[in-house]
Amino acid sequence: MKEDLINLKNQAIAQIAECKDLEELEQIRIDLFGRSGKFTLASKEIANIPVEEKKQFGITLNEVKNTLEEQFAEKRNELNNNARVWFDPTMPSKLPKLGKLHMVTHAINEIAEVFEKIGFTRMKYPEVEFDYFAFGALNFPENHPARDDWETFFVDQPESKKYGPMLLTPHTSSGQIREMLSNKPPIRMINIAKCYRRQIDVSHYPMFHQFEGLVVDKDISITHLRGTIDHFAKSFFGPERVTRLRPYHFQFTEPSFEVDISCNVCNGKGCKLCKEGWLEIGGAGMVHPNVLSNCGLDPKVYSGFAFGWGVERTYMMKSGLSVPDIRLLYSSDLRVLKQL
Ligand code: FA5
Repeated sequence: MKEDLINLKNQAIAQIAECKDLEELEQIRIDLFGRSGKFTLASKEIANIPVEEKKQFGITLNEVKNTLEEQFAEKRNELNNNARVWFDPTMPSKLPKLGKLHMVTHAINEIAEVFEKIGFTRMKYPEVEFDYFAFGALNFPENHPARDDWETFFVDQPESKKYGPMLLTPHTSSGQIREMLSNKPPIRMINIAKCYRRQIDVSHYPMFHQFEGLVVDKDISITHLRGTIDHFAKSFFGPERVTRLRPYHFQFTEPSFEVDISCNVCNGKGCKLCKEGWLEIGGAGMVHPNVLSNCGLDPKVYSGFAFGWGVERTYMMKSGLSVPDIRLLYSSDLRVLKQL
């Protein structure tokens, strides 16, 4: 019996030595020490052994068990060490995920570049303004609906006696007044800033961006306005795009126009998107004589033109982009933003 145990031990030691992985090692352990394992069955033989041999058999059983457990532990360590992934500290690391500029920031940079190249200076004016700069000096009558609570966000601040209540700028045209009050002609400025209105639907967002151009000098005419708009459209949208001016009404320009650009989907032929071949991009006009006077400029000496367009909508009209809903731009949904 004792010899059987020694043989069992030697066989197991050989098996453990040749074993290649942890799974196989576990199987060898179960074959020995499991409920019907060889060692378990052998240890039960103690009941059939003559009394005088029992003690020695017990000692041998313990020795075999201890030896095998040591062997298992050593082998387990060895296999675990081999299983560890080899690490090479000289390998180049994985690059961290990089973010990118939001499409509106791209659009602002591109728009600014087009105008800066033809001599416009980029200016920045307050986005929290007095009523006077956003409306009053721009020739808006007291009861104009844009001045209503329903259109404009008013700021809960004491009113200025001179300039009226404070508000979040509903358009960048307030920058025209600030510019003409602080700089004398010749003026060629581009003001790109946030605007706020109480509007939200597929093409309106409560916070959006406009870019406003203002040129004031002697002998400025509609031809200059047309040329500037056309230059922008061709530089920004592509040389095949053309623009047109449609008569319109703004309080602060006379005459006033809506500016349309030929549709990029149908090339001006008319389609589902544009209906008649043209897409509206914003307002423009010749600076109203009252506005020039409000800023201390003599309308008999100076004339000027201005235009103000939405950055988001202008960018959405760029060829190749199809953003069906302006709200997607500010949804912080990476699935959308990654595509733009
Ligand atoms: C104006 O805001 C005039 N100040 C533009 C102007 C400037 C005219 C200088 C003449 C001379 P209007 O309200 O149409 O005009 O807005 C101009 C453009 O801003 C729109 O064509 C549109 O592109 C964008 N816009 C207006 N409201 C929103 C809005 N809620 N969300 C996104 N874009 C808007």
